[in-house]
Amino acid sequence: MEPVPLDVREATAADAPTLRHLLQLYLYDLGAALGWDVDDDGVFPYAVPLEGYWTDDRRHAFLVRVDGKLAGFALVQRGSELGDAGTHEMAEFFVLRKYRRQGIGERVARGLFDRLPGPWVVRELAGNEDGQGFWRAVVGRYTGHRFEDIEVNDERWSGRVQCFVALPGRSADSRPGSAGSVPQPPRWLIVVRRDREQLYRNLRESFGPEARVEVILDRRETDRGTARERRKRSAGGEPGLWEQLGLRLIFRDQDLRVYEAEGDRP
Ligand SMILES: CC(C)(COP(=O)(O)OP(=O)(O)OC[C@H]1O[C@@H](n2cnc3c(N)ncnc32)[C@H](O)[C@@H]1OP(=O)(O)O)[C@@H](O)C(=O)NCCC(=O)NCCS
Repeated sequence: MEPVPLDVREATAADAPTLRHLLQLYLYDLGAALGWDVDDDGVFPYAVPLEGYWTDDRRHAFLVRVDGKLAGFALVQRGSELGDAGTHEMAEFFVLRKYRRQGIGERVARGLFDRLPGPWVVRELAGNEDGQGFWRAVVGRYTGHRFEDIEVNDERWSGRVQCFVALPGRSADSRPGSAGSVPQPPRWLIVVRRDREQLYRNLRESFGPEARVEVILDRRETDRGTARERRKRSAGGEPGLWEQLGLRLIFRDQDLRVYEAEGDRP
């Protein structure tokens, strides 16, 4: 069967009233599972601060249309209290009832992961069983089940959190109309600090045979004098060498830095 025509478009300030109406329907759905009430004016009081979505380039609002009719929305932000400044987070996500269980939500989510590669978190409040079932299934299929699914119960959140790295070249299955139709990044440049064969093998496996991957061994961290010098410089807020060369840091942990080379930069 042909997948339904799906249009996921970034919303602008002019779409604010539309998004506010859809947010009420979203809160109505979540409220049934989570026990929320409307105020005396019949409106759910939770006000999502939408202004930032048109003024802050770390926030993106998307409206979803199926066959030209509104079918949902997604709010995404870069920077998460459950990750770091480079982590994308799905702040809110909604598919209208008429369009549910047809793979629409999954296609939208996959398209956004592909569009915004790098580390991601998605989270569901305790009690939102539908949301949990959805995100586990979607993130599991997208990453080939390479994701963390953790319980968080502190001042930041009370519920489940899934953490993963979106690598379009590695997308685990190609559902119609999702990853397959999105242009692949030109290449992946990876900077490592130690020469470790096993690390290279793991990387190769993670990125899959389709991705173009280049590894740079950066030994400067092992030179104490230079490292001290670099730390001094970075404390002054200067971008690192790789950023100066036009690369974007999209993933970092102890031993691994992943930079994305954008466009046709040599
Ligand atoms: C959750 C929601 C976005 C799902 O949208 P959808 O378009 O119906 O989802 P899809 O059809 O793409 O589902 C993809 C997979 O997710 C899983 N899934 C979807 N809805 C589910 C549910 N209610 N319960 C458990 N698993 C679910 C299924 O595995 C499904 O694959 P399958 O149909 O092949 O079994 C939608 O129900 C919704 O907007 N709910 C209210 C708001 C909400 O909870 N948003 C998430 C906030 S964290």
